[in-house]
Amino acid sequence: MLRGRRVVLGVSGGVAAYKAAYLARRLVEAGAEVRAIMTPSSRHFIGPHTFTAITGTPAITDLFSGVSPHTELARWGEVIVIAPATAATIGRCANGISSNVLAATVLASDRPLVVAPAMHTEMWEHPATQRNIETLAADGVTIVGPGSGDLAGGDSGIGRLVEPEEIVAAVEHVLAAGRDLAGLSMIVTAGGTREPIDPVRYVGNHSSGKMGFAIAGAAARRGAAVTLVSTVPYLADEPGVDVVEVDTAGEMARAVWGRAAESDVVVMAAAVADFRPVNPADHKIKRSRDGIPTVEFEATEDVLAGVVAMEERPIVVGFAAEAGDLEDAERKAKDKGVDLLVANDIARPGSGFGSDTNEVTVIDADGSSESWELMPKDEVADKLLDRIRDLNA
Ligand code: CTP
Repeated sequence: MLRGRRVVLGVSGGVAAYKAAYLARRLVEAGAEVRAIMTPSSRHFIGPHTFTAITGTPAITDLFSGVSPHTELARWGEVIVIAPATAATIGRCANGISSNVLAATVLASDRPLVVAPAMHTEMWEHPATQRNIETLAADGVTIVGPGSGDLAGGDSGIGRLVEPEEIVAAVEHVLAAGRDLAGLSMIVTAGGTREPIDPVRYVGNHSSGKMGFAIAGAAARRGAAVTLVSTVPYLADEPGVDVVEVDTAGEMARAVWGRAAESDVVVMAAAVADFRPVNPADHKIKRSRDGIPTVEFEATEDVLAGVVAMEERPIVVGFAAEAGDLEDAERKAKDKGVDLLVANDIARPGSGFGSDTNEVTVIDADGSSESWELMPKDEVADKLLDRIRDLNA
């Protein structure tokens, strides 16, 4: 369950900080990638090298090291778990006070947060701490513990850090939420293909790959195993996305067809060339020597049709870039035999190539269509994945 998942472990300054080392070890043993961040006070209790050695990555101790450690870690992690969380750290997190590297990372992150408090009973029961805990809970933060038992300095009562196993279980629970596509294997294509004329020139199109990237990233975050077949480099470094880089329609066809039988879903978001130059030149065509060339075209492989024609085929989602003709898209959905066709009008403002938003009409195999308002491509991706999940049910 934790295999390959990215966990940021925040350690703040309490005696229980030594237990955070054990927690780091349990997370690593469960297959998680762990990166530790330590508050300045935590270093009175445990050294950073302990976490560096256990996690295999240098523990972060300073907000002013590197370019921007807090935003970098916030983007990297799928979850942040703070154990032990002192009253001061809880106060910072509840009130958005980014005065050290851990609190700044929490403020820079939109990912789930798990907090395991540890402090003396008086501090835990203080109205200020209770207010802060209520604020965190209202923000959707998962609070684990504290438990009761022996505390520092020979005291006992409520305020003890819960055992690492309980914290691991909370992290697993948080990471499992929203993973409604777990077990689904999906191919997503993205970008425009490039068909060579000679070694330096090609016939291409304006597709940026953004829609396919949004679908691949959202599907992976929801638990699907994604193979992204792309003509554009995918820089997001998202866990759960395997990238296969291709250039031409032929390469894309081979990459998709070779994997389609083992996939549950194929989403053809790429703008695949319909024609390619016949016999591309093996040398750069020279104006001075060769004059103006005549380029002859031939049909490319129809990647989507090849998948639809498979005997036991995955769910197939096609895309259609239209210029204002919904009827044409409805006909296309039928003719192509896809389960869903996502039509967008590239002429509309906010919907063209390279845009971060899209306004689409989704047509199903029965020909019934649903038009969605203009929204960010990430939201289009999630809504489309809801439809795909329902088709797969
Ligand atoms: N597609 C494909 N292989 C191709 C061309 C297109 O798999 N050689 C896929 C695209 O990825 C897209 C869908 O087919 O999901 C629709 O592409 P589109 O170019 O709109 O369809 P065409 O049948 O080429 O329609 P048109 O007649 O408008 O060109």
